[in-house]
Amino acid sequence: MKHLLSMADLSREEILEILDTAVSMHEVQHRDVKKLPTLRGRTIINFFFEDSTRTRSSFEIAGKWLSADTINLTGKGTSVSKGESLRDTVKTIDAMGVDMMIVRHMASGAPAQIAQWTKCSIVNAGDGMHEHPSQALLDAYTMRQRLGDLEGKHIALVGDLTHSRVFRSNVLCLTTLGAKVTLVAPATLMPAGMGAWAQADGIELSHDLDAVLPTVDAVMMLRVQRERMSGGFFPTAREYAVTYGLTKDRLRLLPDHAVICHPGPMNRGLEISGDAADAAQSLVLDQVSAGVAVRMSILYHLLAGETSGAQSGEGSAA
Ligand code: NCD
Repeated sequence: MKHLLSMADLSREEILEILDTAVSMHEVQHRDVKKLPTLRGRTIINFFFEDSTRTRSSFEIAGKWLSADTINLTGKGTSVSKGESLRDTVKTIDAMGVDMMIVRHMASGAPAQIAQWTKCSIVNAGDGMHEHPSQALLDAYTMRQRLGDLEGKHIALVGDLTHSRVFRSNVLCLTTLGAKVTLVAPATLMPAGMGAWAQADGIELSHDLDAVLPTVDAVMMLRVQRERMSGGFFPTAREYAVTYGLTKDRLRLLPDHAVICHPGPMNRGLEISGDAADAAQSLVLDQVSAGVAVRMSILYHLLAGETSGAQSGEGSAA
């Protein structure tokens, strides 16, 4: 595996391998000295053309804890703002001999295109409304920690599906792992043509959150992505919160064992209430913690797995 561009590229075995390696990586977080020699001498560029808090910092921490040299670049502050094309910019970075670029870009498909132009490994850290594979992997890791094997588990993804790359990667990841997925959204935030696609993959669609909540093992609330909305997708924020938000009242509909996820950043009071975000069954901060371990595992598998590990003589994860 050289790139991580889409969850569609990973088999069940490959997903489980990444999640299992992440378990040993997670132990590093609780050590005083958070450093493994695994990626010593490797150079990783975090290239973020869109804003990010957790994805960017957790990829950077992951690289540092594996002893790679990590450098952060944004669109602003690079020659992109002087009019240089994306192709010239990434070919310039590639010519310096870096091993990996972790790319977040507002255009769907940008990381896949960059992979055609460069020799280094490319990780998609979120491309437009397309995919966010490392997020889906960390979500699966977090849910597995609480619920065990996800095969047969019922997971609802709720909210702004139209604009969500997290939902697209999660559907691919969760169905590959054998989970039963239900998508809940108002008609205006359900991507066009979903019906046939969902039916083919055995995915249920619903507009009734109250009916779905009592049947889930996990519910993942998705951020209402106002920055990607050009028109009125719902009448008012208040109406959205009442109909599709995980309110304090709705918390009671969840089975006792069920968990709550949100990829962050959260719009408290809109898709998720403060009570739900801070509830005992909320895994929001567990997701953040898992993000570092899962990203360490991704870097390890892409840069130190089989062939390159043999070259560097450092195949061991921990
Ligand atoms: C997500 C993203 O950027 O796609 N956030 C994240 O990476 N944790 C989800 C979002 O922005 O709503």
